[in-house]
Amino acid sequence: MPEHTSDVVVIGGGLIGLAIAWQLATDGVQVTVCDPTPGAQTSVVAAGMLAPVTEVEYGEDDLLALNLAGVAAWPDFAARLEDATGLSAGLHQTGTLSVAYDVDDAAELRRLAEYQRGLGLAVEVLSGREARKREPLLATGVTGGVWVPGDHSVDNRQAVTALLRAVEVSGVTLLRQSVDHVITSGTTAIGVQLADGSAVHAGQVIAATGPWSAQLKGVPPELRAPVRPVKGEVLRLRVPEAYRPALNHTVRATARGFSVYLVPRPGGELVVGATSNELGYDTRVLAGGVFALLRDARTVLPVTDELELVETIAGLRPATPDNAPILGPSGLDGLLWATGHYRNGVLLTPVTAAVIAETVRTGVLPDLGKPFLRSRFGQF
Ligand code: GLY
Repeated sequence: MPEHTSDVVVIGGGLIGLAIAWQLATDGVQVTVCDPTPGAQTSVVAAGMLAPVTEVEYGEDDLLALNLAGVAAWPDFAARLEDATGLSAGLHQTGTLSVAYDVDDAAELRRLAEYQRGLGLAVEVLSGREARKREPLLATGVTGGVWVPGDHSVDNRQAVTALLRAVEVSGVTLLRQSVDHVITSGTTAIGVQLADGSAVHAGQVIAATGPWSAQLKGVPPELRAPVRPVKGEVLRLRVPEAYRPALNHTVRATARGFSVYLVPRPGGELVVGATSNELGYDTRVLAGGVFALLRDARTVLPVTDELELVETIAGLRPATPDNAPILGPSGLDGLLWATGHYRNGVLLTPVTAAVIAETVRTGVLPDLGKPFLRSRFGQF
């Protein structure tokens, strides 16, 4: 069986793994990425919101700091990616409008806006009429809104295509193979064994294994990453010319207590998401999920009825017990984690690549990554 050697081997070719590989390769490191279907999992299902403010949760201060660094890192990352490949990275800095449908939704939105403002985040509370001025096709029943100028979106499918090209032009070796296990020598990871029996030997192994992280064989059970899959169903609709642009900004809505988001793309696509279910590795799209998303989308944007339903798809968010990623040293020498990005994978792609590349370069996890060590969970 063939044996490969590399300075670094990255397990997983989603956005996170590809971005790490590209960053390392541009730093002059020899990198191999192993993935049977690079860029084909959660990275292409996601809607691509960069939403540190609108997705903020009570008590997640460390994650908020990382998420803000994430959105700040995107413009430079996108510019470098576009320079390297001649392809669009898909970044759209258009801001986000949160809207509420009934009075209970409006009260909840105002409470969240107060919390966001208390954290020093830029939010502007709007009446229903002011919200409709920004988005004229919103339902007349929309009772209020909050304008969030700093939350944006990325066409994640464009970003995946650009990153696949970037790793190719930067000399990364992409092996379209699954990893069977991490090879260890004593307490050190020294490479990976692939499903076909061949091996990649490397001084550094990086696990960007997303929702499959807890299953990574070769990692001692007490050091495994506590990551579980959380299914999300997403729809892609096409806006006919007559109704374009159906939306100018990402719209997040609470409609009769249910959450939905609508992310417009410049070409006329409207991405609607997302359900959230703990059903293991099930990626079937269920009728109930499609129904719920369309019900909530058409409540706040009635023209949804006139749009073509082009795609239904489901993916798996890699969730951790505290909703924050797992970054850096694993407890096994030679193995770094870059996983558990849950709802923020697209947002955190550039900053994760920077944090992990710096760790490889210096041997030290930068301060920004320190709250996200695997060791915070102890044994699980
Ligand atoms: N960040 C959006 C989602 O996970 O559905």
